[in-house]
Amino acid sequence: MMLAAESMTHTLAGQIAGLAKPGDLIALWGDLGSGKTSFARGFINALTGETEVPSPTFSLVQTYDAPDFVVWHFDLYRIDQPRDVLELGFDDALDDDVVLVEWPDRLGDLLPDDRLDLRFRMVAAGGRFVRLEGHGSWAERLNDLAS
Ligand SMILES: Nc1ncnc2c1ncn2[C@@H]1O[C@H](COP(=O)(O)OP(=O)(O)OP(=O)(O)O)[C@@H](O)[C@H]1O
Ligand SMILES: [Mg+2]
Repeated sequence: MMLAAESMTHTLAGQIAGLAKPGDLIALWGDLGSGKTSFARGFINALTGETEVPSPTFSLVQTYDAPDFVVWHFDLYRIDQPRDVLELGFDDALDDDVVLVEWPDRLGDLLPDDRLDLRFRMVAAGGRFVRLEGHGSWAERLNDLAS
C-alpha cells in the first residue's frame, strides 16, 4: 500500500491501533529512515493521545499507557544479542500488552510466529510503500481493515 505522505502513515497506524489486543506483536521492518517510528507515533497517539513519542534508539524501549493495555515501543537496532531483550521486559510485555518492534530481525528465535509484519520501503517519488502480512489471528483482523 502506498503512503504518499506521513499523514497517511498515521492514518493507517490509527486503523491498526483500533484492532490491537493484549498479546499482540507488530514487527516494523525496513531500512534506516523507512518510516517505522512514524508508524509507531501514529499508533501510540491514536491509543493514548500522546504527541511526544521519541525514537527509543538509545533507551531501547519506551512504554505508554493505553486504556486497556500498555504499549511497548522497542527499537532494537543497538542490541547485541536477542536475549538482551529479556532484561528489558520483553516476555512480560508479550504476555499482557501490545508490542511494537523496530529492527525485529534482532529478536532472532524470540520473534513470535503470531504477529503482524509491516515492511516499509522508500519510494523514488517521496512517500513510502508498506506491505502488510498478518500471521495467526492477524490474518483475519486485516480483513476488517480492508472493509
Ligand atoms: N509516508 C511517509 N511519507 C513521507 N515521509 C515519511 C513517511 N513516513 C515517514 N516519513 C519521514 O521519513 C523520515 C524517517 O522516518 P522514521 O524516523 O519513522 O524512520 P525509521 O524507519 O524509524 O528510521 P530508523 O531506522 O532510523 O529508526 C522522517 O523524516 C519522516 O517524517
Ligand atoms: Mg525509528
